[in-house]
Amino acid sequence: MEYKLRKAEPRDVPDILRLVKELAKYEEMEHGVKLTEKELLEDGFGDTPFYHCIIAEVHGGNSSDGPKVAGFAMYYFTYDPWVGKQLYLEEFYVMDEYRGMGIGSEVLRYLSDLALKMRCTGMLFVVAENNESSIQFYKRRGADDLSQEEGWRLFCFNKDRLIKMATRPEE
Ligand code: ACO
Repeated sequence: MEYKLRKAEPRDVPDILRLVKELAKYEEMEHGVKLTEKELLEDGFGDTPFYHCIIAEVHGGNSSDGPKVAGFAMYYFTYDPWVGKQLYLEEFYVMDEYRGMGIGSEVLRYLSDLALKMRCTGMLFVVAENNESSIQFYKRRGADDLSQEEGWRLFCFNKDRLIKMATRPEE
């Protein structure tokens, strides 16, 4: 079976959402996905893209339906005032039946090359603590575990908090 990587296009949005949901299910947080195709389309393919995606497309096999979107990586660029540009890998998923074929490694090669071309100083990502196979996948490739080594903790103000903080007491 052959595969190729390509940049996502607007027509890929239904597959992107499908894979986002599959990854959420894999992480046992299926009900956390609130986004719709409309938002993904606007946010990734409008005037100011908030994310980028690489699509892994599989050709051949038993399917006579043409190429199938078998995996994806969603990323964007962030900035660290100590060291500069960074590529942030937000989501990375290959469908179960296509794992172990080298697609994931090729996606990381593609993103590493892109990060270097963009003069990034690193690639950041968060992995759920219980996703041990993925943690090992990244560690085998030399990733540093910053939570363990540097003690960083992940925080978030949710939307209710934002509303509270954005509102002056007299309002
Ligand atoms: N399933 C998984 N891994 C297998 C399998 C299999 N059936 N068979 C073999 N492997 C081994 C491979 O030998 C390889 O070992 P290596 O690390 O020593 O090279 C490794 O597992 C898989 O390597 P690839 O084939 O290059 O990668 P793959 O296409 O399987 O994609 C990925 C890796 C994306 C982590 C995939 O396993 C996956 O989607 N996992 C579930 C979702 C997930 O955990 N995603 C990452 C979340 S973290 C984040 O998004 C930032």
